[in-house]
Amino acid sequence: MGRQILLEHINVPGINTFDVYRKHGGYASVEKALKTMTPDEVTEEVKKSGLRGRGGAGFPAGMKWSFLDRKSEKPRYLVCNADESEPGTFKDRYLMEKIPHVLIEGMITSSYALGAKTSYIYVRGEYMYVIRILEQAIQEAYAKGFLGKNILGTDYSLDLYVQPGGGAYICGEETALLESLEGKRGNPRLKPPFPAVAGLYASPTVVNNVETIAAVCSIVNLGGDEYAKIGIGKSTGTKLISASGHINKPGVYEIELGLPVEEFIYSDQYCGGIWKGRKMKAVVAGGSSVPILPTELILKTAKGEPRLMTYESLSDGGFVSGTMLGSGGFIVMDETSCIVRNLWTFTRFYHHESCGQCSPCREGTGWMEKVLHRIEHGHGHEGDIDLLVDVAKKIEGNTICPLGDAAAWPVASAIRHFREEFEYHVRYPEKVKNPKHFELEP
Ligand code: NAI
Ligand code: SF4
Repeated sequence: MGRQILLEHINVPGINTFDVYRKHGGYASVEKALKTMTPDEVTEEVKKSGLRGRGGAGFPAGMKWSFLDRKSEKPRYLVCNADESEPGTFKDRYLMEKIPHVLIEGMITSSYALGAKTSYIYVRGEYMYVIRILEQAIQEAYAKGFLGKNILGTDYSLDLYVQPGGGAYICGEETALLESLEGKRGNPRLKPPFPAVAGLYASPTVVNNVETIAAVCSIVNLGGDEYAKIGIGKSTGTKLISASGHINKPGVYEIELGLPVEEFIYSDQYCGGIWKGRKMKAVVAGGSSVPILPTELILKTAKGEPRLMTYESLSDGGFVSGTMLGSGGFIVMDETSCIVRNLWTFTRFYHHESCGQCSPCREGTGWMEKVLHRIEHGHGHEGDIDLLVDVAKKIEGNTICPLGDAAAWPVASAIRHFREEFEYHVRYPEKVKNPKHFELEP
């Protein structure tokens, strides 16, 4: 197993309790930060560490913190985005359930750096039992003097609240989350202004993912420069990956960024290879909001070099820009998987979860779902495949929030890489009407 930072003590009995967590070095970053560092020094360490947002966008965390409007007279807030809903993504749940104090510790250290006196953890509503675990951990932290007034005898005070989410995927988009936290319908806002300038109650706010905030503890303990030595290039540190699908060992793994994808899939330390002795057909590497990549592209780059688990490497051969590591939801499909069926499932999800504010997303996801449904069920028309590509193109880049792009990318990439499978569905409707058709070789 590679370097373990977040999950180092995961198997220690009672690590979910304050006392055991503390015995294993827990809350050291709070002591170090509050007693020996200024808030700016903590921010500087986070910048030096190269930590990138672990929720999906991979935006440099230190840069985001430095955008916070510190001149404003309004209160500043830190909001933890624990509204984990990306299909195939369950690593935040695992971390909060098993080691809740690492998040509480990260929240205190980060809130101190940002000058926040009140902070929130917005947790996906369906994770009700996790909410209870977090509330218990928060109570323990208050009782031990790590939350509340004059933490550890310093002049820094912080109140921390857990807020259950509204039950919609879109509430994980940071501005929709803020709307929901304010008690309104979770509709995304237009950006700019970014939350760093006008976030919760129009005040300067940093919204960070659970894993990002948890990583701040080790950054403060190790120092930013040391943390930056872990990983590779601009992908520093470790990353939690939720591995699911047709693999022998699904679960949550902590990897050092830069691990070859092939090793992650086939090594016994991680996924343990493809189940039932089958071959791999495709992978969605970062939750469902990124392209579906065929085996040859996921294992090797266009230059034939091994593909690495990094923010830079997992791209669609230049077709889609940005990071495809996303939330680290690694969904593996074996050779019997029907790409059309999978895509229809993804698209149905996005259509259902679209908030409906902008027409390209509201209407486009509906059209894509309808067209994919008919192709998958043997009623596809000549021209349907090009129609799908056209609709996806019209959504991409034309919406308020990234949900539109997230719905368009898998469609465009699946057709780009598996077009013959779509054509087969349209050409041989009788064969695809067989409910088991996805187990046939196209
Ligand atoms: P984004 O790229 O728009 O923003 C990244 C972050 O940087 C945001 O917090 C934004 O406020 C901040 N930022 C960017 N430019 C800034 C500037 N000039 N000034 C101040 N702040 C700035 O992406 P976003 O919307 O935060 O996340 C999209 C990603 O979320 C997708 O890639 C998807 O993979 C992921 N996602 C993850 C989910 C999960 O369950 N973990 C669910 C849904 C999506
Ligand atoms: Fe809502 Fe979709 Fe527009 Fe996002 S892209 S604001 S989810 S309609």
